[in-house]
Amino acid sequence: MERGWLQGEGFLLCLILYLLLQERGDTFAINCSGFDQHGVDPAAFQALFARKAFLPVTNNNDPTHVNISFTLSAILEVNAQLQLMTSFLWLNMIWYNPFIRWNPEECGGIRKLSIATENLWLPDIFIKEFMNVDHTPVRLMAYVSSEGHIRYDKPMKVTSICNLDIFYFPFDEQNCTLTFSSFIYTVENMILGMEKEVWEISNTSQNLIQNKGEWMLLDIHQRMVKMTVGTNQYNQIIFYVAIRRRPSLYVINLLVPSSFLIAIDAVSFYLPAESGNRAPFKMTLLLGYNVFLLMMNDLLPDTGTPLISVYFALCLSLMVLSLLETIFITYLLHLVTTQPLPMPQWLNSLLLHCTGPRKGCPTAPQKGNKGLGLTPAHLPGLKEPMTLVGKVPGPQEAGLNGCPESTRTWQEDEAQKQHLVSLWVQFSHMMDTLLFRLYLLFMATSIITVIILWNT
Ligand SMILES: *[C@@H]1O[C@H](CO)[C@@H](O)[C@H](O)[C@H]1NC(C)=O
Ligand SMILES: *[C@@H]1O[C@H](CO)[C@@H](O)[C@H](O)[C@H]1NC(C)=O
Ligand SMILES: *[C@@H]1O[C@H](CO)[C@@H](O)[C@H](O)[C@H]1NC(C)=O
Ligand SMILES: *[C@@H]1O[C@H](CO)[C@@H](O)[C@H](O)[C@H]1NC(C)=O
Repeated sequence: MERGWLQGEGFLLCLILYLLLQERGDTFAINCSGFDQHGVDPAAFQALFARKAFLPVTNNNDPTHVNISFTLSAILEVNAQLQLMTSFLWLNMIWYNPFIRWNPEECGGIRKLSIATENLWLPDIFIKEFMNVDHTPVRLMAYVSSEGHIRYDKPMKVTSICNLDIFYFPFDEQNCTLTFSSFIYTVENMILGMEKEVWEISNTSQNLIQNKGEWMLLDIHQRMVKMTVGTNQYNQIIFYVAIRRRPSLYVINLLVPSSFLIAIDAVSFYLPAESGNRAPFKMTLLLGYNVFLLMMNDLLPDTGTPLISVYFALCLSLMVLSLLETIFITYLLHLVTTQPLPMPQWLNSLLLHCTGPRKGCPTAPQKGNKGLGLTPAHLPGLKEPMTLVGKVPGPQEAGLNGCPESTRTWQEDEAQKQHLVSLWVQFSHMMDTLLFRLYLLFMATSIITVIILWNT
């Protein structure tokens, strides 16, 4: 009984094999006898070539499966103004054509043939973001295998629209999409698939993009979607191409010079306000900065407001502020040395408090000036105030000199005035230091804010 069952199974197997072979034999569409001696016979393909206008299916309800992949070989340009990314890629497509099979044993072992693509039905795969005419070279060839698989590769220069966000320029990353879809075939007629895993596409592209251009490829992701238009559904494959800008060019040409200028501007606060050099110096810096901005304008993206523009505007306003501060201090110094007003009591006590041994407010000007080798004696028309002040309250000294009363009162008046001037000068220096510190604080906070924004 067991044996009979086995026999039955063997018979069934033979039957199936026979049927399969029968079917295979029937569907060899191409008679390739003689190919091994006389080369390919064009007559054998005439029937196939005549069908190229129609979808290669035996049953109209069967969809054609087209598997696609691509290799990104260069990122040529990213245009922020037009929101375009120009890249170069090799598109690979594989599909099955049931009318093109032959038996390799009959044909001297020929397993694949190349056929000019104008003789074949080609899938109408296009990239939805494509914003240019297709410059694909004509007269490309496709490889056809004996099982009916057709492999078609074509190079494409793709100018695709991409939503570019340049806020973080030059430290920006972009996520551009390439959506592959059939132009007219709905899901009933064409189904798209992946020819390779997406990590393979990403890896080969990364290895292939050898140019050290502005952009580097980070990663490629993929998603399959069905797009519905009216009652029709279309198969789509969306590739997300993540790219990152190499910022070194912009760091060297934009950020470093600008930081140097702003640093020099900050340091120039140490130029003595009395010498009158500070304002011209700052003005020159401002001029230099404007020239720098003009020259660097074409390196910046033309649209949107990247953070770097805010940074430049900030640097410019810091310079303008510091120039204004210098003008103010110079004016103050001029005012107090020529026509000192009586000092309000509160200001006087504040000054005394600040110049006292416990320093709770901006540095005492004398001390700061000593550090720079400058004393108020450098002021035009002003004598050393400390010595004068020290001299004034000595009535014995005046008596010793035996000066007349009028000279004494004049001298006292003069000393009083000098004392007042020196107090005012002290006050101006205090103001200068205070404003300088405010400036530094503002500069530090704004630059730290910009850097934090850049890092997020
Ligand atoms: C293929 O063509 C040759 C002549 O070119 C013919 O003799 C042969 O029978 C054909 N084979 C089939 C399977 O049609
Ligand atoms: C397309 O890909 C699918 C799944 O990876 C595979 O089953 C099918 O054979 C492929 N088709 C062609 C024509 O390579
Ligand atoms: C990408 O390819 C390189 C060699 O070309 C290999 O070392 C690496 O492991 C691959 N990465 C992935 C994710 O497969
Ligand atoms: C790009 O965008 C898509 C969809 O918004 C997202 O799934 C993908 O993770 C993004 N890729 C990167 C690298 O940010």
